[in-house]
Amino acid sequence: MLAIRLLAEPTRLDVLALPIRPTDRADPPAELVPVAAALPDGVADELAALVPAARLTGDPGQTWTQVRPGRVPARLLPFGIGAGDEAAWRAAGAALAGVAAREDRVTLPLPAGAPPAVARGLVEGLLLASYRFRLGADGNAPALAAVDVLVEDPAVYADAVAVARTTAAMTRLARDLVNMPASVKNPGWFAGQVADAAAGVPDLHLRVREPRDLAAEGFGGIVAVGSGSANGPRLVELDWRPAGARTHVVLVGKGITFDTGGISIKPVSGMKLMRKDMGGAAAVVAATLGAATMRLPVRVTTLAPLAENMVSGASFRPGDVVRHYGGTTSETTNSDAEGRLVLADALTYAVRELSPDLLVDLATLTGANAVALGKRTAALYSENDRLAADLLAAVDAAGEAAWRMPLPADYVDYLRSELADLYSAPAQGAGSVVAALYLREFTGELRDRWVHVDMSAPSWSEDDDAELTKGATGWGVRSLLRWLGTLG
Ligand code: BES
Ligand code: MN
Ligand code: ZN
Repeated sequence: MLAIRLLAEPTRLDVLALPIRPTDRADPPAELVPVAAALPDGVADELAALVPAARLTGDPGQTWTQVRPGRVPARLLPFGIGAGDEAAWRAAGAALAGVAAREDRVTLPLPAGAPPAVARGLVEGLLLASYRFRLGADGNAPALAAVDVLVEDPAVYADAVAVARTTAAMTRLARDLVNMPASVKNPGWFAGQVADAAAGVPDLHLRVREPRDLAAEGFGGIVAVGSGSANGPRLVELDWRPAGARTHVVLVGKGITFDTGGISIKPVSGMKLMRKDMGGAAAVVAATLGAATMRLPVRVTTLAPLAENMVSGASFRPGDVVRHYGGTTSETTNSDAEGRLVLADALTYAVRELSPDLLVDLATLTGANAVALGKRTAALYSENDRLAADLLAAVDAAGEAAWRMPLPADYVDYLRSELADLYSAPAQGAGSVVAALYLREFTGELRDRWVHVDMSAPSWSEDDDAELTKGATGWGVRSLLRWLGTLG
């Protein structure tokens, strides 16, 4: 992993990274940004000559390596910062992570007088883009590199960098959990990982319900979905309870550690990556650990219903009627619509037993998310305009993407079953929307203080892309931490 230090004086100057930005002229199209450190003689002129020669534009994400044999520094790394805002610095940091992986140490002076958000963007970009997950003979052995960030006064940037470090560490934790193969990652293992991460953190309390507890307390959705697996289900309840908190948020995350589809089995193309079906649980757990690490003054209770949706003689069947926590029944028309069954239990438990101020669930709920909104954008549902706007603003500031979707009344009738209260997977209606309408049935008094996020699409990336790395993205951790940071 990259080691990042904030320094007032450089220790060595082997490799010097320098920010450049676009000008509003054609000649030169880009220029060096005045930085918070004295540059070695001749470097500024050399860069001015390099801009046209290398056709540098200063756009965020652009990098260049200028080799200077026998001189100090031995390499100059001009990098684009575009408009110089936090998002542009995040992109610059992500691009620099690739370059820094080939160096021992990079020295990077920030612009003179840069706001702390610049350091936050840079550090998040560096730490997120340098993430690697591999289960090889050599273990998880990413390149070691150090980045020394030079500033006039490190104290000015210390808080922003600490927030960036925690945000990146928790996003990386969520990625680790999602990337882990299901041969290791079953519900009990996931709960154990949460216990390890939460151990010793003051004011953070963990309760894990075992299969017999779930059955005894009536969590029929979680029990049904978990019934076909040799690895029994769990319900993780993680409570960050700071003294004096005035707002109580409950986060719920779908935690299907592998989704075969059950008896309504998926084809191999749709099944092979279904270890990622606990991305919602990973995000809410990691965000709660982050809130506790940063000691945010808001109470956050996270519920992660965990189950493995398998095919066996003990599996629940299409057409079975499940009785959820609280008594509502679902006719399970398709055993591949399992996420909503476990979420239904957790949402009702949250509303009845925890009575929070706000209720937010994250779930890799439907393939329809990507059909509607593409590969990077989550679908966000809420009846509360203010709450939806606040969350969307946090998502945007964090550098993630979500789009608000409707909860249309004309689909509600599709949910009504003759045999039970609800159909879990009605035959008609847009997939992501109908799933959201189904979940809304379990929000009770919190109906207008609830947000559902279907993040099936952005929780996984097919390639390295800026701060995202191939595989799990940790979607939602950054957004949730931003949003929780605005509550008090
Ligand atoms: N876990 C899947 C949704 C999913 C699909 C997540 C692709 C990530 C990528 C979910 O449990 C599922 O199977 N949903 C079905 C619902 C249908 C049976 C009503 C779907 O989307 O097809
Ligand atoms: Mn499914
Ligand atoms: Zn699923």
